[in-house]
Amino acid sequence: MTTIAVLVGSLRKDSYNLRLAKSVERLAPEGAEFVYANLNLPLFNQDLEADFPPEATALKQLVEGADGVLFVTPEYNRSFSGVLKNAIDWGSRPWGQSSFAGKPAALIGASGGALGATQAQAALRNVLVFLDTKLMGQPEVYFNALTGFDENGELASSAEGFIKAFAEAFVKHVESSSAAK
Ligand code: FNR
Repeated sequence: MTTIAVLVGSLRKDSYNLRLAKSVERLAPEGAEFVYANLNLPLFNQDLEADFPPEATALKQLVEGADGVLFVTPEYNRSFSGVLKNAIDWGSRPWGQSSFAGKPAALIGASGGALGATQAQAALRNVLVFLDTKLMGQPEVYFNALTGFDENGELASSAEGFIKAFAEAFVKHVESSSAAK
């Protein structure tokens, strides 16, 4: 069993990004288990590091116990969401005990337009490289939620192929990175 920790950077009930993550999960190869992190965390405050909030500890434990991490981000003001940054900041602390270092990872994102969270993903990629994740470079998916989901909110048939290719490449990336440890 390959376990994937999924960090979705939107708390919105009908989030496109949550829907996108669920589509990746559905199209992933058998044997991959996706576990969704709770990112409804207190705002990061360095004063709290001495006594980590339980929700932040739970996030760190989920990431550390997983074989790989999938980051799923909306685009907010040409960057990734504060919700996701806050979670990453918690997970990266205390200094020297980052939960992300060396973790096989990938990122994907959706927005309500043709640009498909392009700039959010570019900004997030920079952070994930800094955090020393083993980041999958290709394939990239810039997901337009307006055309990528049908009128029932299901993944459009035109998107099945490239989301399946992404899911398969990601799980392969995680499994081969774990085997190389
Ligand atoms: C947005 N949105 C947005 N979209 C985009 O393509 N580029 C952008 O810079 C922004 N900026 C932005 C800022 C803020 C504060 C909000 C709330 C929204 C639109 C955004 O991509 C859209 O609301 C998505 O639906 C958010 O993702 P979820 O919540 O559906 O997963």
